[in-house]
Amino acid sequence: MKLFIFIIFFYLQVPNYEGNAYDFLKLVEQWPPAACLPNKCFRITNGFGVHGLWPSNTSGIHSRTCDSSTKFTTSMVQPLFPRINNSWPEVINGKEEWFWGHEWEAHGKCSEAKFPGSDYFKLALDIKDRANLLQALNSKNIKPGSSEPVKDFEDAIKSVINGKRPELRCLKDRKGVVYLHEVGLCLDPDGVQYIDCPLISQPPPSVTNCLLNPKLMLLPL
Ligand SMILES: *[C@@H]1O[C@H](CO)[C@@H](O)[C@H](O)[C@H]1NC(C)=O
Ligand SMILES: *[C@@H]1O[C@H](CO)[C@@H](O)[C@H](O)[C@H]1NC(C)=O
Repeated sequence: MKLFIFIIFFYLQVPNYEGNAYDFLKLVEQWPPAACLPNKCFRITNGFGVHGLWPSNTSGIHSRTCDSSTKFTTSMVQPLFPRINNSWPEVINGKEEWFWGHEWEAHGKCSEAKFPGSDYFKLALDIKDRANLLQALNSKNIKPGSSEPVKDFEDAIKSVINGKRPELRCLKDRKGVVYLHEVGLCLDPDGVQYIDCPLISQPPPSVTNCLLNPKLMLLPL
């Protein structure tokens, strides 16, 4: 019994780094019209697109150089065509391969032990397909072009991810209008269970904390 308690205690104390090099996964989806500003998008889409799947640490510190020398190759994404091209478009310039390669270099390598090569890209697509964010927003009467209370945005998304807290990332235009830019969905290291995203305490200068604003705009597509 003592040993059992010790094992449980020990288990809870050990962070997830070993073998994982990260505490949780964050799928970041972008709203194309916001991602493309100040210009119009090069690629026309009909909803959210994957930005990336980011293995993350609770401390918020992201080491951009996870130990791995594995370079991105097109064979990692080939088996996922055409699905990946539709769900993970590079909307600004239409340079998909560059975008996927960049996400692999900056993030994918950090979860390589668990999700090597195409497994990483497939997991991102699978997580995206599990929860339809635009449909969730529509069902709470948030349509492209509308401005609604930030709480409605949060509640709508929570309703499709088991009630867990998403990370809402916003931008602000010159007139002070705050609009939704990206939505982060947080999951355990295996990418199975949703978890609450940590609150953004010190957003980078370009990311306005959505929750500090009464209303958000969902830019028209
Ligand atoms: C998480 O922290 C560990 C330990 O400091 C580090 O080795 C790892 O690279 C970090 N992972 C990410 C994704 O930043
Ligand atoms: C992805 O689809 C777009 C639009 O159909 C196309 O123009 C582009 O060449 C495709 N990208 C790749 C890497 O095949």
